[in-house]
Amino acid sequence: MSRLFSNYIIKDLELKNRIVMAPMCMYSAEDDAKAKEWHLLHYATRAVGGVGLIIQEATAVEARGRITANDLGIWDDSQIEGLKKISDTCRKYGAKMGIQLGHAGRKCEAEGERIIAPSSIAFSDEYRVPNEMTKAEINEVTQAFKDAAGRCAEIGYDIIEIHGAHGYLINEFLSPLTNTRTDEYGGSKENRARFLKEIIRAVREEWPGEKPLMLRVSAEDYVDEGNHPEDLAELINFVKDEGVDLVDVSSGGVADIAPKAFQGYQVKFAEIIKERTNIPVIAGGLIIEPHMAEEILQNRRADLVFFGRALLRNPYWALYADQELSNIAIWPKQYERARLRKR
Ligand SMILES: Cc1cc2nc3c(=O)[nH]c(=O)nc-3n(C[C@H](O)[C@H](O)[C@H](O)COP(=O)(O)O)c2cc1C
Repeated sequence: MSRLFSNYIIKDLELKNRIVMAPMCMYSAEDDAKAKEWHLLHYATRAVGGVGLIIQEATAVEARGRITANDLGIWDDSQIEGLKKISDTCRKYGAKMGIQLGHAGRKCEAEGERIIAPSSIAFSDEYRVPNEMTKAEINEVTQAFKDAAGRCAEIGYDIIEIHGAHGYLINEFLSPLTNTRTDEYGGSKENRARFLKEIIRAVREEWPGEKPLMLRVSAEDYVDEGNHPEDLAELINFVKDEGVDLVDVSSGGVADIAPKAFQGYQVKFAEIIKERTNIPVIAGGLIIEPHMAEEILQNRRADLVFFGRALLRNPYWALYADQELSNIAIWPKQYERARLRKR
């Protein structure tokens, strides 16, 4: 019996399988940050293709929180309509729908924004030097996450993922490489986790208690003095009681270094975080073959597996994996005649 094609229940969310589409920016919006036809087609195709949970790309909680001027946004009520269309359509076609709420911090490349970060340190020579956030700005961003969560509840997403990875704002607070503050938001791990803790608390005020909340982290900074998986586990332990149900384990993005990626390169990080926090995890990163995903799940190394580029290459990856592993998935009736009957 395939574990990839077994259902998974967390709070009021039931997934039909353990295939998660990783959040991936489409850089296809305009300056109003509203969803376009491309977004609808792109996500709906993966829903038809049998993905259990889709996590919509990083969606900015403030205009200055965009990575580029082509990101999606959720800071204004006028942005709700387009997002709701995507969420409703994907859910209609059998996927559950998540959204990644993000803030780019010092990695904001959108022109004309005053960029902010825990400390005034640029990501690289090609990036602008950010302004060190005041307490008032910290509160503003926390409020922006809260307001965005309210819109997510109104839209009807199944799960929110808070983007705490890849060297964006929350990650900049968590990592000692980017956070040199001397106030209560810097220094010790407990202090570096404070901003995230306040965000989770604020999001939870708007996001129904019966709905799960997920956190994406970068478990490894790939620099000796930076964070490692054991550090992330400690940081998560400081915030988890605010209501984190699932951790999506990624890595990198804080320092300007490309990790040496190989198939499954982040799975070990997910295992460490699962063991040390006691929270279910999603593992992924260069997972391409169905049997590899199955191994991760059967050996209880993770609870769910995410797929990014594999699903860009083939939106029907889940249907292909079903044929390899189980032949139990419900195919769209329009595609049934394409199904290979192995047994
Ligand atoms: C085009 C593209 C856009 C991405 N955008 C995001 C994003 O919005 N948020 C995020 O957390 N990760 C983003 N990522 C990283 C993916 O979610 C994923 O972690 C990464 O691609 C590794 O998984 P894979 O080897 O299965 O692709 C992006 C990756 C790609 C290829």
